[in-house]
Amino acid sequence: MLNNKLSLNLEKIRKDFVILNQKVHGHRLVYLDNASTSQKPIQVIEAINNYYQEYNANVHRGIYELSEKSTHQYELAHRKVAVFIGASFEEIIFTRGTTESINLLAYSLGQNLKPGDEIVLTQMEHHSNIVPWQEIAKRQSAQIKYIPITSEGELDLDAAKKIITDKTKIVSVAHVSNVLGTINPVKEIGQIAHNHNALFIVDGAQSVPNMAINVKEINCDFLAFSGHKMIGPTGIGVLYGKKDLLEKMSPFLYGGDMIREVSFQNSSWNCLPWKFEAGTPNIVGGIGLGIAIDYLKQIGMKEIEDYEKEITAYALKRLQTIEDLVIYGPKDPEKRIATISFNVKGIHAHDLATILDREGIAVRGGHHCAMPLMNLLGITASARASFYFYNTFEDVDALIEGIKKAKKVFKL
Ligand SMILES: Cc1ncc(COP(=O)(O)O)c(C=O)c1O
Repeated sequence: MLNNKLSLNLEKIRKDFVILNQKVHGHRLVYLDNASTSQKPIQVIEAINNYYQEYNANVHRGIYELSEKSTHQYELAHRKVAVFIGASFEEIIFTRGTTESINLLAYSLGQNLKPGDEIVLTQMEHHSNIVPWQEIAKRQSAQIKYIPITSEGELDLDAAKKIITDKTKIVSVAHVSNVLGTINPVKEIGQIAHNHNALFIVDGAQSVPNMAINVKEINCDFLAFSGHKMIGPTGIGVLYGKKDLLEKMSPFLYGGDMIREVSFQNSSWNCLPWKFEAGTPNIVGGIGLGIAIDYLKQIGMKEIEDYEKEITAYALKRLQTIEDLVIYGPKDPEKRIATISFNVKGIHAHDLATILDREGIAVRGGHHCAMPLMNLLGITASARASFYFYNTFEDVDALIEGIKKAKKVFKL
């Protein structure tokens, strides 16, 4: 059915993801929890190994061979990320992940908020893009407003135009919903935010792994994402920020490496991006993320996007043939990614996930760290199958068979 470069190379690609080649409960592993975290190719695992076996040393400190190599590789990883999203080196800060990136912003930007200022989020945010703002809003007596979603699970742009006003100082929006899979029109929302002189933040946790992203094209002020969702290691993530904004912001964490000079009374800050990377960083995580990016680029983000669209279309089509199965989010594959949340009438999502696990199929069942959205949908949990570029059409078939089996178990 498919003849794009990726699908032709799929067998070879899957060999790089050794973990996929195993049996779970006697069945072939079908890993469909990629929105939660992705698997890692052998190239990333070997890079981590090599670092510890060949050149483990702290960065920006030693003037000996090992430290120089470590520093070079760590800085190179920043450059790779910069090129990957169309930014410059100084604009790439390594954090622990999306959550820490957004906390950094909430802490640093939040200090400037005054009573009555408004922060605009959407009803489809992950807790990581709600809770840090709630805390800052309480501290600064600011207010949070939410852009509503339509019954199709898309953002209501007309409402956004009314909610974002001159009182709005920060607009922070998920590029892609981790529950609904919806791809949000971030360029348009950014334009509305900028028309009111508000800062525009994009949570790219679910978009950067699956789509070709260019921060200049989106014209966001900040972009946050996580390495572990894009075949990189855990504990490493990115905050992109426009250079002039980062220069004006105060640091989030204080200590070693982020300073230029320290006296007993005062300190001054290092240049970007190090001003925001206090202490010994996750060196090996950064290097691993750089290798993950090399891998994604070799396949091509456009190829990944196209292949995942095909998987999405196929999965949606097959899921819709199952009676009493409700899919949340857009039904048009062009409007979403391959993260599909659903419920089967009469089966709790946790039970469904447990039965699927018995068939070797890993899906997530729960609230997906988006409780306000779940409340809005009138549910407490859903099952979520999230596909990545190494998943196959057979994986979709296995999911469908697994759901049918669950229905039989529950005599539905
Ligand atoms: C949209 C979105 N934002 C933020 C996060 C938090 O990412 P992390 O746990 O890597 O910090 C996630 C993780 O699922 C997510 O899907």
